[in-house]
Amino acid sequence: MYYPEELIEEIRMKNDIVDVVSGYVKLQKKGSSYFGLCPFHNEKSPSFSVSGSKQMYYCFGCGAGGNVFTFVMNYENYTFGEAVKLLASRAGVALPEMEYSAEMKRRENHRARLLEVNKEAAKYFYYQLRAKQGEAGYRYLTGRQLTEETMKKFGLGFAGKTGSDLSRYMKQKGYEDKLLQEAGLAGYDERSGMRDKFWNRVMFPIQDINHRVIGFGGRVMGEGKPKYLNSPETPVFDKSRNLYGLNFARTARAGNIILCEGYMDVIAMHQAGFTQAVASLGTAFTSGQAGLLKRYTDKVLLAYDSDGAGVTAALRAIGILREAGLTGKVIDMRPCKDPDEFIKKFGKEAYQERIDNAENSFFFEIRMLERDYDLNDPESKTGFYKEIARRLCGFEIEVERENYLEAVAEKYHIGFENLRRLVNTYAARTGLVKPAERPKSGLAKKDPPEESGRRVQRMLLTWLADEPGAYKKAAAFIDASDFTDGLYRRVAEKLFADLEAGIYNPAGIISMFEEEEEQREAAALFNTKVEAIETKQERERAFHDILYAVKKNSYEYYSGKLGSDVQALNQVIAGKKALEELGKTHISLD
Ligand code: GTP
Ligand code: MN
Repeated sequence: MYYPEELIEEIRMKNDIVDVVSGYVKLQKKGSSYFGLCPFHNEKSPSFSVSGSKQMYYCFGCGAGGNVFTFVMNYENYTFGEAVKLLASRAGVALPEMEYSAEMKRRENHRARLLEVNKEAAKYFYYQLRAKQGEAGYRYLTGRQLTEETMKKFGLGFAGKTGSDLSRYMKQKGYEDKLLQEAGLAGYDERSGMRDKFWNRVMFPIQDINHRVIGFGGRVMGEGKPKYLNSPETPVFDKSRNLYGLNFARTARAGNIILCEGYMDVIAMHQAGFTQAVASLGTAFTSGQAGLLKRYTDKVLLAYDSDGAGVTAALRAIGILREAGLTGKVIDMRPCKDPDEFIKKFGKEAYQERIDNAENSFFFEIRMLERDYDLNDPESKTGFYKEIARRLCGFEIEVERENYLEAVAEKYHIGFENLRRLVNTYAARTGLVKPAERPKSGLAKKDPPEESGRRVQRMLLTWLADEPGAYKKAAAFIDASDFTDGLYRRVAEKLFADLEAGIYNPAGIISMFEEEEEQREAAALFNTKVEAIETKQERERAFHDILYAVKKNSYEYYSGKLGSDVQALNQVIAGKKALEELGKTHISLD
């Protein structure tokens, strides 16, 4: 749903952030801000700040931050649209009904009908499970130690034996055959007419994050092929963008999400109290699903089967998680096949222990890699080390690479310097990364270059948001194109345009971004404090240095783009001039 910007602003302004956050977090006034215990991570002393003047919150502990919309999205696990609705009703602002085109209306209507049919079918299966003819199903599920409460929570059901039970029932309810076919619940053939897709199976309704039934999985009771039958994709069932159990896991607040392979694994884990478990939908894990998980966590634990296929699937999933910027860990299921079996055999305490000791995904990869080499054979062993070196080069951040290098060297008894030489050779040969220097002990580890460039850009934006009067001084040297990160640049463009027009509204800028992750990042831009500065002289000096660093970073950035970007040359020439100018200018902040 698209709302006009003015409406979003109106809703935001009518929901004072201090008021709204106070409804969830106990706040105390300290200076010009309010502080409290951060609701987004565990802490004992308050580092969560809410600013009435900026209308933003920011946690100095975990980096969570944003405006009032971000807060509600984060706290309630809402989408932007859902947060808008909640805050609109809180402030008594009426939202317009969306104007649909005829085609959109038709499609929306069709989707609504499919959801309705699915819901009706789920109800039917649910009652069948408890009826006389569902006894075998009920026995099967209790035999697998599911409690009545669990069966209810997941809406488990049973599809009857005749092969046309559901079709007949739905017809009598007034649903046309075509709809049933489009929902993937039945097929039609000349000889036998309407045939149910699922029969003589226990049924697992698959729900989206809003608890709507979008499809089904059906399992044979006992042996038989195929073991599971799944609904086909339909306009409401996108297998690559939904996860089984996420409707519950999204509010589990366990600090991680456990990704497993099977529906039964999810159910067994939830029953044992691990309500953060989800599974993909009978297909391999996708990047769309990784993106979905990223809305709720940055830590994903893999609870895949311990057999060969499980390991292969885990290795694939690790790559996808990494690409999405999620930390992956692997839960060791041995000697069991899967979480369901493990919990039954060893109990939930033992499983919790396995969660706590989950293996870092990089170490897991290296351990699996090791199996392909014979470490008693010098040549094979060298090959193994080389492959480790190659993979270490995948860590672009120097500190991270160093840490892994150190850990792997120790774990596999490889001389640290030897492994580092291998890494450096490999990196230099392929031009992947610059050879890393070992940080001298005692010295603070430095940020990688792009990060330090971004940090000064954040400092400048924070400074200008805190002290809009300084904008004119900065504008003599800097414009939005000096912000080298796409998101930073968009924020700078808006902030500078506002300030030019005499508007001061940093929290409004955050609403330009719909994704929570982007809002959080945008909020960080306004909350990067420069360390305590005492005197006016020091302040002016610091401001000057920040301007200089931002300009220098931009100059280097565009220098690197000479040859590939036609605009770059102008930027470089102007940048050089501005740097020279800044070098000899004293900036007063009066
Ligand atoms: P149990 O064997 O009953 O414990 O179920 P499980 O959920 O642990 O299943 P398993 O580990 O064998 O498979 C993992 C997932 O793969 C299942 O939940 C299904 O989504 C899917 N799957 C398994 N077997 C089949 C099959 O025969 N056909 C299809 N399409 N999907 C399957
Ligand atoms: Mn299983």
